[in-house]
Amino acid sequence: MTTPVGETTCRVCRGPLGEFLDLGRQPLSDRFLTEREIPGEFFYRLAVGACASCGMVQLMEEVPRELMFREDYPYHSSGSSVMREHFARTAHGFLESAYAGPDPFVVEIGSNDGVMLGAVRDAGVRHLGFEPSGKVAEVARRRGVRVRTDFFEEPTASEVRAAEGPADVIYAANTICHIPYLESIFRGVDALLAPGGRFVFEDPYWGDIVEKTSFDQIYDEHFYFFTASSVRAAAERFGFELVDVERLSVHGGELRYTIARRGAATPAAAVAETVERERARGLTTPDTLRRFAADVERVRDDLTALLRRLREEGRRVVAYGATAKSATVTNFCGLDSGLVEWVCDTTPQKQGLLTPGAHLPVVPPERFSTSYPDYALLFAWNHAEEIMAKEQEFRDAGGRWILYVPDVRVV
Ligand code: SAH
Ligand code: TYD
Ligand code: ZN
Repeated sequence: MTTPVGETTCRVCRGPLGEFLDLGRQPLSDRFLTEREIPGEFFYRLAVGACASCGMVQLMEEVPRELMFREDYPYHSSGSSVMREHFARTAHGFLESAYAGPDPFVVEIGSNDGVMLGAVRDAGVRHLGFEPSGKVAEVARRRGVRVRTDFFEEPTASEVRAAEGPADVIYAANTICHIPYLESIFRGVDALLAPGGRFVFEDPYWGDIVEKTSFDQIYDEHFYFFTASSVRAAAERFGFELVDVERLSVHGGELRYTIARRGAATPAAAVAETVERERARGLTTPDTLRRFAADVERVRDDLTALLRRLREEGRRVVAYGATAKSATVTNFCGLDSGLVEWVCDTTPQKQGLLTPGAHLPVVPPERFSTSYPDYALLFAWNHAEEIMAKEQEFRDAGGRWILYVPDVRVV
């Protein structure tokens, strides 16, 4: 289902795509590698455009999904305690919802290590996860979650409908924005969702990305940058209706979209209110997009200037959190091991390898606590509260955090 790279029309409506930001040659953001793998490293051009017809913000080039979501895809959703709580709350919300029937069936797209479905399973409720990445799917299975190691799309969704009946809830967190083939997703939802069921998904919000200049949300896996307006238009196009939107504070600011079959529910007031606020803010107007691109360049210049000055002063600078987001920062800003010594990360699968493109060594967090640097560049800024609380001793010992969202500062 992947189309050739180099799209110049909107992936949803075929309208004209206007490019507004070029982040250059970039590697696969979650492909950590050994020294020996460097010569064969994959690169593509990371650029973003907005559709003049439906307003969908999206990448100009599509990376083939098999390159990103492989057997050893390293991202584990359970790595943050805040996210574990968020997903447990989400699961309980579904189980208590009016649209869950007496014997509910909950399907998740991108179930990863089972962080959400684990709670559904513990409640003894029927469920199924779709997760193409083999190792994280296996982690979920070990905690008793039912997983199909597959991409969710029209044919696989239809198979599940035939074998297991309709789903009351189809949920996806930080996954629908990863999927260029949105039409196949909606057709799959159409095949699988019960008449009164809900398709609920949450993803980083373009409104927050613009407001915070969080350009590191832009990388190969994040193909779409949704707004309530663009999701409403896409839902309508495929026979559905956006019936609710909710702001979430996780991952730097997200929107949760609730979608029903056309006419199956009355849209909440929040839908029209959010769409109107987006219109008033001009979230996808040429002016806003130009200003965003200029803000991105300013953050890059400020960050590189700060890191060069610290190097000249002989300070030790490391980074914290080998996030997918940080691939965009390190490669766009040209951060190498001369500016940033290494990155620490709790994910065993990333440790001992090099970061994509920039090739910074990834080390375990113990490295950080056994010899505190002068400065730590917080790549996992979306988990700032959790990490800063855990690393209070670093701060007490005189260490300083470097942040670059919404602008570059030392705290
Ligand atoms: N839902 C989790 C994981 C997000 S990472 C969370 O919010 O933390 C995105 C996940 O989607 C990855 O595990 C990836 O393997 C999976 N994925 C990508 N394309 C998919 C598709 N078409 N169907 C199901 N899962 C998909
Ligand atoms: P995250 O920001 O959730 O996502 P992405 O990779 O999509 O940008 O990634 C968080 C990374 O930070 C993950 O590799 C785990 C790591 N991490 C730590 O090392 N320590 C922590 O305390 C937390 C919360 C995360
Ligand atoms: Zn469009």
